[in-house]
This record gives sequence, C-alpha cells and structure tokens, in this order.
Amino acid sequence: MDRKVCVVTGSSSGIGAATAKLFAKNGWNVVINFSRDATPAQAVAQECRTLGAEVLIIKADISSDDDCRRMAAEVGSAWGRTDVLVNNAGATKFVALKDLDGLSADDFHTIYGVNVIGAYQMTRAFVPLLKKHPGSGVVNISSVASIMGLGSSIAYMASKGALNAMTVGLARALGPEIRVNAIAPGLVETPWLQNGLGPERYAASVENYKSRAALETVISPEDIADAAWWLGAGAAKTTGELLLVDAGLRITKA
Ligand SMILES: NC(=O)c1ccc[n+]([C@@H]2O[C@H](COP(=O)([O-])OP(=O)(O)OC[C@H]3O[C@@H](n4cnc5c(N)ncnc54)[C@H](OP(=O)(O)O)[C@@H]3O)[C@@H](O)[C@H]2O)c1
Repeated sequence: MDRKVCVVTGSSSGIGAATAKLFAKNGWNVVINFSRDATPAQAVAQECRTLGAEVLIIKADISSDDDCRRMAAEVGSAWGRTDVLVNNAGATKFVALKDLDGLSADDFHTIYGVNVIGAYQMTRAFVPLLKKHPGSGVVNISSVASIMGLGSSIAYMASKGALNAMTVGLARALGPEIRVNAIAPGLVETPWLQNGLGPERYAASVENYKSRAALETVISPEDIADAAWWLGAGAAKTTGELLLVDAGLRITKA
C-alpha cells in the first residue's frame, strides 16, 4: 500500500475532523473514529472521500483497550501501515475552579481514562504499524489548560499535564523509529466549548480570550490541523515537544 495512513481519534467533529480532512487533502488515507454518534462521522468520511482518500470509519471508545486493539487490527488488515496517529479524542467535566466539591474521584478516573490512558492504549496498540515506516509520528492533542491552570476543570487540566509528561516519556521510549509530540491549543471554535458552556458563557469566554491573547483572536480547528500536519508528517528532527497554538494567550498582550 503506497498511500500513507493517518488515524485520528475523535474525528467526527472539531479538531479531529479538520485534521482528518487536511491529511485526506494531502493524499493520505484516513481513519475516522468516534464513540457515540455515527452521523457526523459519516459526513466527515464523505468529505474525506471527496478529497480523494480511502476512509475507514471505526466506532471505538479509546478508554477501552479492547477497542484500541480492535482499531489497530482493522487498520492493519485494511492497509497494513499507520504513518501518523493523532490522539485527539478527549473528555472533560465543566466545573468552576473554586468548586473543589464539584469533582469526584470518579470524575478524575473518567477524564484520565480518555485523555491519558486512552492516548496510551492507542499508542501501544499502533506501535507495530507505526514502526513499519520509520519517521512516523504520534501527535497528542493536549491543551494550554495544562500549563495555565485554566480551562473546564482541575481534573481536565491535570489530565492534560499528565499527557504532556507522557509525551516526553513515549518520545524517549519509541525513538528512533517513532516521533511523539503534543499540541497545546488555546480556545478553539468547536462544539466542545459551545456545548459545555452554553451560548452566553461561550460568547463571553471568546471575548475574554481575545482581550488577553497577544494575537487578540481565538483559534480555528484548521489552525490545529495545520500544526498536527507539520508535527505528524514533517518535523523529522522534533520529538518530545509541546507546541502551543494559543494565539499568544500564555505570553499575554502587552
Ligand atoms: N475546543 C477547545 O477549545 C480545545 C482546547 C484545547 C484542547 N482541546 C482538545 O482537543 C480535542 C478535541 O476537542 P474538540 O474541541 O475538537 O471536541 P469536539 O468537537 O467535541 O469533538 C470531540 C470528538 O471526540 C470524540 N470522542 C469523545 N470521546 C471519545 C472516546 N472516548 N473515544 C473516541 N472518540 C471520542 C467525539 O465523538 P463521539 O462523541 O461520537 O464519541 C468527537 O468526534 C480534545 O482532546 C480537547 O481536550 C480542545
């Protein structure tokens, strides 16, 4: 199989969908993954096919190791390779920072189950396929929440901090054949925050973000897809890195 293969978890919406479409546009085959709603996955898959890609749609919950191994087996038998894995699927619970009683141990387990353990299980399941063509890449979608102490909840920011640490460990473990990097997006215009916050709080968050970030803007899913394309398909000498795509939120405006 000559065409390269990109597997994007959580690619029926938002950042994952934009990333799958960018790889498809560049001549790659793509896997569209979701865990609940097949309808948007089918729509994204159709767009990728229109761009010329062969597409597998796989329903799988990445917090289940069996599902991760099944996904790798399906990709292996269809195409026999994976060149880039984007660990994008994420989970959170929206709890105000000061509301310490708003988060239970179960909430932490659920969020870590997807954001940390899910990314680990996916990477482990895909290592044999990623190793077939050295120079392959894993891209973990973290969040600027992990370094700024802001975002949907403390459990979420902690899980993304763990993902950052895991990125460095996996980069060392999987070299020299596989590069492992992470992206820390700022506020990205996707259903994630729109659904989580509701229309009024979402609009206020966007305005607040623009007022603080050096570039005075929020981020589009396509901006993150661009970064995932570079870290996954290019960046031959970069591994173990965390790339902020936050429109300058961390450095703030003058
Ligand atoms: N939007 C932001 O402002 C922002 C900022 C920083 C970081 N991020 C990160 O970016 C990633 C994507 O976020 P987004 O904004 O693009 O979200 P989104 O538009 O809500 O899309 C989430 C995707 O993940 C899938 N998904 C959820 N749980 C899954 C699971 N257990 N297994 C497989 N797929 C699953 C969803 O499909 P189903 O519901 O059908 O499973 C959907 O395809 C997340 O890791 C998030 O933490 C987002």
